[in-house]
Amino acid sequence: MAKDKVVLAYSGGLDTSVCIRYLQTLHKLDVITVTVDCGQDDDFVEIEKKAKAVGAVKHVYIDAKEEFARDYIIPSIKANGLYQGKYPLATALARPLIAAKAVQVATAEGAKALAHGCTGKGNDQIRFDITMRALAPGIQIIAPIRDMNLTRDVEIKFAKEQNIPISVEAKKYSIDLNLWGRAVEGGNIEDAFFEPPEDAFQFVNLHNDKAGYLDIDFEAGVPVAADGKRMDIVDLIQYVGDKAGSFGVGIVDHIEDRVVGIKSREVYEAPAAIAIIEAHRDLEKMVLTKHELSFKRLVDEQWSWLAYSGLWQDPLRSDLDKFIDATQIRVSGKVKIKMHRGSLRVVGRESRYSLYKNDLATYAAGSTFDQTLAKGFVELWGLQSVIANALTASSYHNQDRTLAAGQSNRSATSGENQTMAKRKIKEGERTR
Ligand code: ARG
Repeated sequence: MAKDKVVLAYSGGLDTSVCIRYLQTLHKLDVITVTVDCGQDDDFVEIEKKAKAVGAVKHVYIDAKEEFARDYIIPSIKANGLYQGKYPLATALARPLIAAKAVQVATAEGAKALAHGCTGKGNDQIRFDITMRALAPGIQIIAPIRDMNLTRDVEIKFAKEQNIPISVEAKKYSIDLNLWGRAVEGGNIEDAFFEPPEDAFQFVNLHNDKAGYLDIDFEAGVPVAADGKRMDIVDLIQYVGDKAGSFGVGIVDHIEDRVVGIKSREVYEAPAAIAIIEAHRDLEKMVLTKHELSFKRLVDEQWSWLAYSGLWQDPLRSDLDKFIDATQIRVSGKVKIKMHRGSLRVVGRESRYSLYKNDLATYAAGSTFDQTLAKGFVELWGLQSVIANALTASSYHNQDRTLAAGQSNRSATSGENQTMAKRKIKEGERTR
């Protein structure tokens, strides 16, 4: 009798290789592996060989780079997607896409279950589980590492016993890479005070002393050209990543709050994401009103949280996307970035939708801003603050000042303030 099938999201790494063997031997399932290419730059022929050598009955490779960039990274750029203001969400964005592709294969293959190699300690299990459940309701989800409470050391021991090949890197760090960035975890960098050694990084040049410039053009919130050359989004991300990385830009090192409550020390390399989001955010400040900006900041933060916490499938995420898209219509223009030894600074921006008007802002002669209008505005702007101060003036020093201010102030409210202040003084005298 033919065995039931399980579709496993397979990266070729230690966790998912160990999973193939466990699914085969413990669950007695035929394992179909799916590797989704989100720009991780792996040797996919080798991965297929490895999957089959470990025991997969079938392997499926899906090139999803463009879809990843178009449907996941671009919305994140528009939302200035940074979790806790720092993490550009590279892994978080790829997980729902990988899960969706695994569901597609499971449907096509008539598989009874889906599987992933996540542990029970991280965020990835949440992203996989929820997308799989949302898109394939009722399907069984098997997560062998989580289910059996395996640690990395046990996995390495098991892999050795079972002749499952392990890469040298796997012994040192746990790495997740895609087009939008690279996450490095484990090993000596679990010590939060220990500076990540150079061997933790792959894309960032830490020895370039020169400074350099990068121009990015946006249309409706989407980066469309770099250094004057129009490129499709995948090429553009690669170009910006290479260039920013060559000036040492893109390292993020922070303490992150995982969904499951654990604080973790996270180290990322994401030169393209850091440069593009910084440029995008700067351009928004030029073209959006301050009201749009302050509200969008809240929306961006909520959007990033949904993406991070595995709620990509929640309707709120697509609701927020509609708002964000509406704000991006005028986010077109050019941003100039300067990079030097790992730092990055926007040094110029221009847009046909700019709300920055030099003839208004200038301190030089010829300004079209009528200063005489400002006096009345300032009086109204501070009205409540001034009254509140008068009412709470209680120290001897403040009473004196309030009184003095009251006497020299001839506005309609000053009479009242003065009486208030005098009464306060009396009260003060009584208690003293
Ligand atoms: N902390 C990041 C996140 O939750 C990165 C996770 C990296 N995942 C991994 N399997 N190494 O998105």
